[in-house]
Amino acid sequence: MTQTSGIGKESSVVNTLSARRRHPLAAFVVLFIALGLIGATYATLGSAKAKASASTGATPEQLSEGQKLFLSSCSSCHGTQGQGIQGSGPSLVGVGGAAVDFQVGTGRMPAQQIGPQAPAKPRAFNQGEIDAMAAYVASLGAGPDIPDAGAYDSDPKDRDSVSNGGVLFRTNCAQCHNIKGAGGALTDGKYAPSLRDTTTKHIYEAMLTGPQNMPVFGDKVMSPQDKKDIIAYLVNSRSVAGSPGGLDLGSIGPVSEGLFVWTIVLGLLIVFTCWIGAHTTKASRARIAHYEATTGKDAANHE
Ligand code: HEC
Ligand code: HEC
Repeated sequence: MTQTSGIGKESSVVNTLSARRRHPLAAFVVLFIALGLIGATYATLGSAKAKASASTGATPEQLSEGQKLFLSSCSSCHGTQGQGIQGSGPSLVGVGGAAVDFQVGTGRMPAQQIGPQAPAKPRAFNQGEIDAMAAYVASLGAGPDIPDAGAYDSDPKDRDSVSNGGVLFRTNCAQCHNIKGAGGALTDGKYAPSLRDTTTKHIYEAMLTGPQNMPVFGDKVMSPQDKKDIIAYLVNSRSVAGSPGGLDLGSIGPVSEGLFVWTIVLGLLIVFTCWIGAHTTKASRARIAHYEATTGKDAANHE
């Protein structure tokens, strides 16, 4: 008896369900539930990602490896908590992973001695170790994260990008790095390095973190797109092998280069014309002398 009533109940449930399914609004209800599920999934994934980037996505193992490396290679100057040591190294609290990736990735850090400026040199750590130290330093205080490739991969063939980048470079960077990014000396034994070999990631990070005397070009001062355009301009100017107009005269500007052409090239032209003149008269005089000698006639009378 119980079994029969069970079956009866089930079939009545099925009946009501199938009746509902036939309801004209059923399709919309299903659509709503599906959309809701998708939305919920995205929201959970998104917040997980946001959480991950807030702590640079560091795993506990990465953090402990980073701390270990930091204690052995960096703490002698920057302190065991990255708090800085007066006269040896600045505090790294809040400089962010980007500063570590830039400083260690370009070989500036670990600095070998205290000088006016730590020079770039072959890097001492692999990228995995750098990421670990960056994660550890980022955990000391919030700062700019290592940017992902989408932020700094720019198109050096995009003309708009390159020309906008050129304008921005000339107004914001050229006073220190030279109009062609060749670098230049600053005061007190410091210098702005050449930008010809810097990777696009390190260019972006330099702008984000402002090493040494360089100002910080945060996103409020210079939009991410503008930074990308500057990178496009710099990479584009590298692909122009040497100087398209011929000899590179140090790119000192059109007026001085024009002056060079006037004085040197015009001077050479004058010398050449004099030579032609001297040479032709001498040559014809020699020919006349030869004529007179062989024929015994007076060339002037004969002609
Ligand atoms: C011999 C001392 C010394 C050692 C060792 C050293 N640093 Fe430095 N660090 C400095 C000095 C001095 C500066 C600031 C001057 C400069 O940037 O040239 C600096 C600057 C930095 C900066 C830039 C801070 C900012 O405000 O942007 C970072 C990041 C950094 N160091 C990370 C490291 C890491 C990571 C290590 C270990 C791999 C390390 N340093 C090892 C002396 C040192
Ligand atoms: C006030 C002078 C100054 C200005 C303006 C300036 N920089 Fe710098 N820049 C420096 C100095 C100094 C360094 C070297 C820092 C160091 O060695 O720690 C540097 C380093 C760099 C580096 C690292 C190069 C490498 O491979 O080692 C890049 C890239 C860079 N700057 C790009 C820029 C860009 C792009 C701009 C304009 C948006 C700019 N800089 C504006 C002074 C300046």
